[in-house]
Amino acid sequence: MVLPAHGGQPGRIAASFGMEVKGKVYDFSANINPNGPPSWLSEQLPRLMEEVAYYPDPDYLEAYEALAKHEGMDPEQLLLTNGGAEAIFLITQLFLGKKALTINPTFTEYERACQAFNIGLTHLRLNQEFRFPVEAMAQVMPDVDVVFLCYPNNPTGTILPLTELEHLLKLGMEIGTTFVIDEAFVHFLFEEELSVKQLLAFYPNLIILRSLTKIFAIPGLRAGYMMASKDYIQKLKEKQPSWSVNGITANILPVLLSDKSYMAATKAWLEKECKKLAENLSALKFIHTVSSVNFYLLKDGERPDETEELFRFLVENHIIPRHTDNFKGLDGSYLRLAVRSAEENDYLLYVLRKWREAP
Ligand SMILES: Cc1ncc(COP(=O)(O)O)c(C=O)c1O
Repeated sequence: MVLPAHGGQPGRIAASFGMEVKGKVYDFSANINPNGPPSWLSEQLPRLMEEVAYYPDPDYLEAYEALAKHEGMDPEQLLLTNGGAEAIFLITQLFLGKKALTINPTFTEYERACQAFNIGLTHLRLNQEFRFPVEAMAQVMPDVDVVFLCYPNNPTGTILPLTELEHLLKLGMEIGTTFVIDEAFVHFLFEEELSVKQLLAFYPNLIILRSLTKIFAIPGLRAGYMMASKDYIQKLKEKQPSWSVNGITANILPVLLSDKSYMAATKAWLEKECKKLAENLSALKFIHTVSSVNFYLLKDGERPDETEELFRFLVENHIIPRHTDNFKGLDGSYLRLAVRSAEENDYLLYVLRKWREAP
């Protein structure tokens, strides 16, 4: 069976199980804000058509100014990217032929990018509770040039505590190891002050990448950026193709970043839904990760070996989960589910109750 490598392709996911879903489909496979793009975006689309016919400003002056203001940073410490994915592929180009460490299960694009640029990859595993193996990481670090950490981690939603990360960053400074912290989901965090950004001023061996694609639900447009020392940003900029960020994204970036009410509504929705889901899933005896963001891992606590059957049952009931077959260390043993709207999450719980009651 060939399963799609990423979520967000409900038809293909169902088809790979030899199934066809007719009627309404509930896509829980992509971890994108279900509130959809901010409502003002569709109103502005006619005006934005102008951006389609011209090359964007290659220096993206207005977008950088807005981002620098938003982050309270020098523009020279920032690099706008065509989503978090471009950032990952730019960073790996700084480590051609060197060695990297990832902690599995984690986002699969680090491995793809390392393979593309001939970077030797060492893997460690999260522990049983999906916590980071800090001591094992410290032991491996002298043998690697760069560590990729997803913070919070996709697909588990778990986080490496900042004090432990700082311990590793200090060691990295001593032995010359760079840390790439992927904060693609940081804007979903209930407590954004958990961001690694506060460590940037102290650790020049730190590169942070972020995505705005997920939080603003704009995967068809894409938006992301990096934060690092001026030196790293300069080197990364040299690798980036000109006009990499499209004109529409560049134009709307200042408005996106200042849309406080969209962010507030997102946090309020997420906090409420996460609490409801956690309580109900535990009551139904499903094993699920305690995630700090908008997705979580799930398997049946009573029938833990029946994840594939659960997958089929959900698809038959028009719910598309994300398989975990290509997450090393999970190998299909869990499903990843996005936190969706209140109505969709209620439907999921209804279907899971049906599964629980099935003979
Ligand atoms: C952890 C992580 N980093 C980066 C990305 C890529 O972000 P973008 O869609 O902005 O390219 C994703 C997308 O799924 C992701 O899950």
